[in-house]
Amino acid sequence: MKILVINGPNLNMLGIREPGIYGTGTFSDLLRLLEDTAREEGLEVIQYQSNHEGDLVDKIQWAYGTADGIVINPAAYTHTSVAILDALKAVSVPAVEVHISDVDSREPFRQISYAGMACIKTIKGHGLEGYREAIQYLKSYLTSAK
Ligand code: DQA
Repeated sequence: MKILVINGPNLNMLGIREPGIYGTGTFSDLLRLLEDTAREEGLEVIQYQSNHEGDLVDKIQWAYGTADGIVINPAAYTHTSVAILDALKAVSVPAVEVHISDVDSREPFRQISYAGMACIKTIKGHGLEGYREAIQYLKSYLTSAK
């Protein structure tokens, strides 16, 4: 089973950016968590991070016929990008949305998620651990779908 984890803009700054909101865990810590989860769950995890909307769209399209599932934190593009929503719908690879912070308890503009409209589940406010939960959720979803 192959899971593509996509991270949007500024997530490469984890640990530095607004630690009161996103925590002190770094992007390297996140990469390590993904590697550990892949080993523990016996699956392949491919991580991709970009600050550019079109690159994120390209990577979602790449998943078609390649990945079994997608975990996506589109970061700020969550709240603006119809292109990412359309790409997720186009490939129809099962996707789980992750947000490190609890977007529901933040500014009103963070309450809308376009990407989430194409996702089977959203995990928010669980910090970096939310990525592990998303991978585990996708694994059981994909296993029971077979
Ligand atoms: C985020 C929440 C977004 O509103 C924000 O723009 C981010 C990170 C999160 O993981 O909590 O960059 O997606």
